[in-house]
Amino acid sequence: MGTVTNVSLQNHGATPDQGSMVTAELDMLGEIQDYGAPNAKFHRGVISYPSIGDGAIPIGAAELRLAFKLAASNTIDIGTLHQHQSIVANVDVDNMLNKHFAILGSTGVGKSSGVALILHEILKARPDLRIFVLDAHNEYGHCFGDKAQVIDRQNLKLPFWLFNFEELVNIFFGMRSGMEEEIEYLAEVIPLAKAAYAENGRASDRTIRRTGSKNAAFTIDTPFPFRISEIMLLLNERMGKLENRSSRLAYYKLMTRIETVCNDPRHSFMFDNANVGGDTMAEVLSHLFRVPAKGVPMTVMQFAGFPSDVLDAVVSVLCRMAFELGLWSDGVSPILVVCEEAHRYVSADHSRGFDPTRQSIARIAKEGRKYGVFLSLITQRPSELDPTILSQCSTLFAMRLTNDKDQALVKTTVPDTATNLLSFLPSLGPREVFAFGEGVAMPVRLKFKELSRDMLPRSDTGGVDPTIVNPNLRTDFMASVVDRWRGVRAGTEPADFTHLFASPDLVVAPPAAPTQSPQTEVDRFGHLRRPGNTRREDPQKQPTPDQWRK
Ligand SMILES: Nc1ncnc2c1ncn2[C@@H]1O[C@H](COP(=O)(O)OP(=O)(O)OP(=O)(O)O)[C@@H](O)[C@H]1O
Ligand SMILES: [Mg+2]
Repeated sequence: MGTVTNVSLQNHGATPDQGSMVTAELDMLGEIQDYGAPNAKFHRGVISYPSIGDGAIPIGAAELRLAFKLAASNTIDIGTLHQHQSIVANVDVDNMLNKHFAILGSTGVGKSSGVALILHEILKARPDLRIFVLDAHNEYGHCFGDKAQVIDRQNLKLPFWLFNFEELVNIFFGMRSGMEEEIEYLAEVIPLAKAAYAENGRASDRTIRRTGSKNAAFTIDTPFPFRISEIMLLLNERMGKLENRSSRLAYYKLMTRIETVCNDPRHSFMFDNANVGGDTMAEVLSHLFRVPAKGVPMTVMQFAGFPSDVLDAVVSVLCRMAFELGLWSDGVSPILVVCEEAHRYVSADHSRGFDPTRQSIARIAKEGRKYGVFLSLITQRPSELDPTILSQCSTLFAMRLTNDKDQALVKTTVPDTATNLLSFLPSLGPREVFAFGEGVAMPVRLKFKELSRDMLPRSDTGGVDPTIVNPNLRTDFMASVVDRWRGVRAGTEPADFTHLFASPDLVVAPPAAPTQSPQTEVDRFGHLRRPGNTRREDPQKQPTPDQWRK
């Protein structure tokens, strides 16, 4: 059995009526054993090749059915074969999941709709599986009805102490350089703040017993609670002991930076309860990753409203936690992480994107299978995706791709027998897709099922609201857009650290900014002060950290 890849007409004489011949070129795919018998079976690869003079017959529905029948017990039905609309295209769901899958295609060809379709089918075939969707454009919120919880910036609770050090540095410092001193000070105090949290009995007895001695148990990356107030206290103590103004400057800047970031309302999903929250890690993980599922096995994590400066770190934490949850639970609760716009997070160009995010996703791609953590990557620019990560996806769904580089990339990732099929990539119709790899019996061109309107992904943010056509209907429209943009959220009180600065005993005279006139100094809030008003610390009067915590 083979597919025709090329047809040509050769004239034998000067004109067609003098004799001509049609030549069809075939890619051989496999053989049907016991053809015509009731126990006929198809297998991939060719053992006995046809010889010159053998006849050929066009394939009919019966042969196609045989060829695309999967031996697997757990299959999902995602559409119909291109060659024969009546034959269902089945995918072996366990094989597809276990070794990850990717959906590739230019913009607007139906990738997200294909994802929604596949996820719907997976939900039916694998009720044990949890699904976690990283929804870059807030498209999937309504697609899965009561099977999915939707989490966005408004209702996400992701305490800052779940972030590892690199992720926290990204939150506090972004991509700025020249902050080495501040970063070093932060690295010194975080393990101490964790130890202080455990020591003060705020953690459960179980945790204290397990961690044993004071500092040794906490590395800088241990996901253990600490308080921002403790960090500020430790920094303030250290700053207070310094004589030299210029060395205080880095501490001062670091404290101001922490305060600014924590009080930014756009970051409230991390820093709400920064000074009073308990050890909520188990609850946070249960909620995010649906363990137990309680009838809702899926989480749609919407990112469209997230501030871009924290997005990378948040994706990194979530992917890392999905992997580590699998690792530490021995894969008891398998989970599929679906990553839309994957080229943003795992770019082929290693200088782009945030390295910890890349590592979190790469780890799922490389080791996730062992711990029941599976990956699905969706991208419109396969050539911009890290090829080592794409190569871990052993089932590929390639939709229309118009860019030459993208087509070339896909050709390098599929088996030789299928490369000729790929010349059709730029001309695939709507919903049409080539499927290759572990999940399908052999490379196949199929058409995704048509989804009903309520199941189609559509952007909650990008669509035009019909009321906008008449601006008089919604006079507050622009104000509400601006509010959302800024992340203003009703009822969000910024965390307050001012009490730490207000104490007469703890206040340390901040160094004057170089541009300031000699008569004035700047306090921590940027207010100008006369020298006489500045309170200076007396090291003798400084309370001990224990007194402060009390
Ligand atoms: N399986 C389908 N059933 C019904 N309609 C579909 C299907 N696939 C695609 N469409 C139509 O095509 C449109 C675009 O599809 P979709 O949003 O899935 O494309 P996309 O490849 O994800 O685009 P982008 O790259 O911009 O994210 C949909 O809004 C829908 O109208
Ligand atoms: Mg899409």
